[in-house]
Amino acid sequence: MDVSKDLKIMIVGTGKVGANIVQAFAQSGFKIRGIDIDKKNLHLASNEIQKSLEVMVSRGKIKNEEREAISERIILSGDFDLLNDADVVIESAFEKMEVKKDIFRHLDQRVQSSEALLLTNTSSLSVSEIGSATKRPDKVAGMHFFNPVPVMKLVEVVRGTLTAPDTIEKVKALAELMGKTPIVSADSPGFIVNRMLNALTVEAARIVEEGVGTVEDVDVGAKLGLGHPMGPFELFDYLNAIHLLQHVTDYMSDELGDRFRLPVWVKNLVRAGKWGKDYGRGFYDHSQKGA
Ligand code: 3HC
Repeated sequence: MDVSKDLKIMIVGTGKVGANIVQAFAQSGFKIRGIDIDKKNLHLASNEIQKSLEVMVSRGKIKNEEREAISERIILSGDFDLLNDADVVIESAFEKMEVKKDIFRHLDQRVQSSEALLLTNTSSLSVSEIGSATKRPDKVAGMHFFNPVPVMKLVEVVRGTLTAPDTIEKVKALAELMGKTPIVSADSPGFIVNRMLNALTVEAARIVEEGVGTVEDVDVGAKLGLGHPMGPFELFDYLNAIHLLQHVTDYMSDELGDRFRLPVWVKNLVRAGKWGKDYGRGFYDHSQKGA
C-alpha cells in the first residue's frame, strides 16, 4: 500500500478530538470519514467542524469556496460497514483500555485489507496492549495528535512491541502528507510529549499546593518565563480535560512512580465536575464568560 491522499481513511470516534482530526485531514486535502455509534457525537462533530471553518472564513484564512471543498471531503456516518474497505483506521475513542481493545477486536474482524493500518490516537495507553486485541499487531501503531489538531504541527508515532518498522514508516509518511512533523516514541506511558506535559502540570499543582505561587503566577511564569503559548492550568481549562489529566496521571503514577501523583486539591476539582471552561469552571472561573 502506497501512502497517498487517495487512501480510504476513517476516524472511529467523533468526539471533540476525533472531530478535530477529521477536520485536519480534510483541510490537508484528504477525503475522510468520521464514524461513531452515537448520533449525538456525529451531530456535535458536524457543528464543531462547520463552526471552526466559518471562523476561518470570517478571519480571511480561507475563502468560502475552500470551506465548501473541505466540507465536501468529509463524511460523518454511523455506518460501521464503511470500515470494511478502509486502508487506514484511526481510533479516537475514550481513553480507557477496555474500550480501545473492544474497538480493535471489532476492527480486526471488519477491516478486509491485510495491508490496512490500524492506528490509535491514545495519548498515554499501551499500544502493545491495544494491538494484542488483534491478530495483526504488526499493523497497529499510535498516531497521536495534539489540540487544536488543524494547528499543531506535531504527530507522535508510537511503536508497540510488535509494530512492524514498515508500519511506522507509513504512519510517518501519512503525518508528513498532512503537513505535520512526526516524532517516534517507544511504547511507554504518556510517550514523549504527555510525559513532559503531565510532569510539568503535576509540579505546577504542587507549587500551588505548597503556597509557592498562585495558579495565575504559574501560568504567567510558563508563558513569559518559558515562552509557552499557554500556562499548564490555562491549557487544561482550554482542553476541558482536567478529568483526563487525573485519569492519565493515575495510570502514569502506577507505572512510573509517585512523581506523577496529582495533588488532592486537583482531584477534588475533578470530583466536583469542574473539568475546564465548558464546565463553567476548571482551574479558573469561567462562569461569567457565557461558557
Ligand atoms: N481549527 C482551525 N484553526 C484553529 C483552531 C481550530 N480548532 N483553533 C485555532 N486555530 C487557528 C486560528 O485560526 C489562528 O490562525 P492564524 O494564526 O492563522 O490566525 C491560530 O490557530 C491561532 O488561534 P487564535 O488566534 O484563536 O488564538 P491564539 O493565538 O491564542 O492560539 C492556540 C490558540 C493555538 C490554542 C495557542 O494558544 C496554543 O498553541 N496553545 C497551546 C496548545 C497546546 O499546547 N496543545 C497541546 C495540548 S496537549 C494535547 O493535545 C495532547 C492530548 O493528548 C491531551
